[in-house]
Formats: sequence, structure tokens, C-alpha cells
Amino acid sequence: MSDTRTLESRIWDVKATLGDRLVILGHHYQRDEVIQFADFRGDSLKLARDASRCTEAEYIVFCGVHFMAETAAILAQPGQTVLLPALEAGCFLADMANRQDVERAWRELGEIMDVEHEIMPITYVNSTAELKAFCGDHGGLVCTSSNAQAALTWALARRPRVLFFPDQHLARNTGKRMGIPLDDMQLWDFTEPLGGLDSDTARQTRLFLWNGWCNVHWRFTPQMVTAWRERMSDIRVIVHPECPMEVVDLADEAGSTSYIIQRIEESPPGAHWAIGTEFNLVNRLKSEHPDQFIESLSPGPSSCRTMNMITLGNLAAVVEGLVAGQLIHPITVPEDIAHSARIALERMLEVGR
Ligand code: 13P
Ligand code: SF4
Repeated sequence: MSDTRTLESRIWDVKATLGDRLVILGHHYQRDEVIQFADFRGDSLKLARDASRCTEAEYIVFCGVHFMAETAAILAQPGQTVLLPALEAGCFLADMANRQDVERAWRELGEIMDVEHEIMPITYVNSTAELKAFCGDHGGLVCTSSNAQAALTWALARRPRVLFFPDQHLARNTGKRMGIPLDDMQLWDFTEPLGGLDSDTARQTRLFLWNGWCNVHWRFTPQMVTAWRERMSDIRVIVHPECPMEVVDLADEAGSTSYIIQRIEESPPGAHWAIGTEFNLVNRLKSEHPDQFIESLSPGPSSCRTMNMITLGNLAAVVEGLVAGQLIHPITVPEDIAHSARIALERMLEVGR
């Protein structure tokens, strides 16, 4: 048997042994060889909901990146353990905001306005538990790419301004879709005092956009959209909202990974698609829908390095550890942080899609 087949059969054996005691969650960007073991697949929002509903499982193994496993750990029941097969599987975007910089932004804005009444903090789920806790402590909430508009609407109904971190593109694309003029949105450069703004500009801003981005999605360009349209007049371009605004504006549609999958699934044979998101998902859609023309928007591979750190080898090691009574790479969040972060996540789950 090849190494791959051996690892696969070892993982199937553990699943059979542990039965309902083990639940494996898998994000759509996981490799095919890994995602086949997921009891539940999804985008960030669905997986957060799935994690909160797996109340019977003793172990939740998360095939995704660190902030996703951390979110599952915050929403898990007491006594459940969440494990991440590769501890080093972080997220470039989540690493672009830390609590110190966000607290400094809050303090500096607090010098020119009453932040607790005038600014609602929203953190994209691609962030540390500490930033989710910050939002929970200051009346704010978490959002994902599926519910960013609902979260922003909720926030702006309660306070006149929003500080959105860490993804400037999701924030700008969502604000624009809601009709917020670009002049009312300002980039917050966290390396500069007052985000690089003068105080008059800051006072007039409705949406502060943290200067963060995803190093997979920022690489998609408007030229790639134009090139596809020149090659194929009936191509439909669909992109993730972490792409720059100029790309989203030129695309036919934008949405979360689940939305992208749903649009392809409901399309007729012969449809032509160029997809602006991570490569594993594009390749899977391509092989699952051979009756459609499906290609990546980008000419080169656009893979997420950290999502790809989950392998058959480290998944097998983690699940076999459970049978041997060992917890390899458990994800824990200190209870004071988890408590505040849970408030922000529960607000998100109530706001819905
Ligand atoms: P989704 O919530 O759309 O799955 O996005 C997660 C992500 O990390 C995209 O880069
Ligand atoms: Fe983070 Fe981007 Fe990878 Fe998504 S694709 S996990 S945002 S680095």
C-alpha cells in the first residue's frame, strides 16, 4: 500500500473506533485528501455554527487555520477538546492586527470622540481570540465574509461609526455595497499616530478600514478580469470579497466560499466561470463539475500556504493520539478572553447571514 493509502486507512480506522466521540470539521480550502474526512465542511460562518452544535462530540479536530480552531474552542461545550493538526497553520491576514495596536487606535480615537457611543468595533473572524474579546468588551461583534453586511448594518444602527479590522478589502467592499460613499471610509494605518489621519478627517469618517489584507486574495487584479473577458465573452467572474475593490467591482459576483460553491452548483452545464479565490477550492469545483468550464481567475496557482499545512500525516497523528489517550495540539483560550470573545461571537450568530 502507498504511504497515502496507509495514512488514509489509518484515519478511517480511528474514525470507526471513536465513532460519535470524534467530529472532524474542514474548511473549503483544505486539500482534497484531507477534506474527505470532514464530517462537516463549510465556510467560516457555517463551521462556527457547526462547532457550536456538535455538543455530543468529545473531540473536535479542525482542518483549517488557527483562528478557526480558536473560534470552535470558544464556542465548544465544557469538556470538549478542539485540536488543530498543525499548530503553525496561522493566517497572514489575522496576524495583521494585534490587541496592542487596536487598543492604541481606540485610545487615540477616544481623545477626539466618545468612542463607546460613537464607534462600534467589528472584527473579521480572521483574527485572534483577543480581538474578538476586545469587540465583546466594547459592544461590538465578529463577522465573516457571509454576514459582513448584516454585521455592519447592525453596528451602524447602534453607533454612527465602525472600526473594522483586520481586512480593509472586506470592509470597503461591504461598505460600498451598502452605499457608503468612499469618502466616508478611511484607511487606518496602524503604524501611524491616529491611523495617519488628521483629527477633522477622523471625525468625519463613518468606516475606519484597518490596513490589513490577505496575501492570497490581494494578488487578484482587474487586469486578470479584463484578460478573461477578452478571451471568453460569456465568462462569469466570481470572487471572494477579500479581493481588492477594483476586482470586486469588475467581477459579476462576490461572496464567501460557500456562496461561490452554491453559485457553481446551481449553474447549468456549459457555464463558464473564472474564480478568484484559493486554488484547492477552484480545483475541487473544476473536478466536481466537468460539464462546466471552470478556471482560476489568476494564471498562476493562488494557494494559501497555511491552509495547506494540514496534511494526511499530521491529521493521522492527531486522531491516532486520541485513541492512545494523547491530546496533540489542543487549542485552548484563557477563560477571561473566551468569555468576552463568546459575547462578540454570539452577537454574530444572532445577527445571522
Ligand atoms: P470564508 O468564510 O468565505 O470561507 O473565508 C475564509 C477565508 O479565510 C477566506 O480567505
Ligand atoms: Fe488567511 Fe488568506 Fe489563507 Fe484565508 S486565504 S486563511 S484570509 S491567509
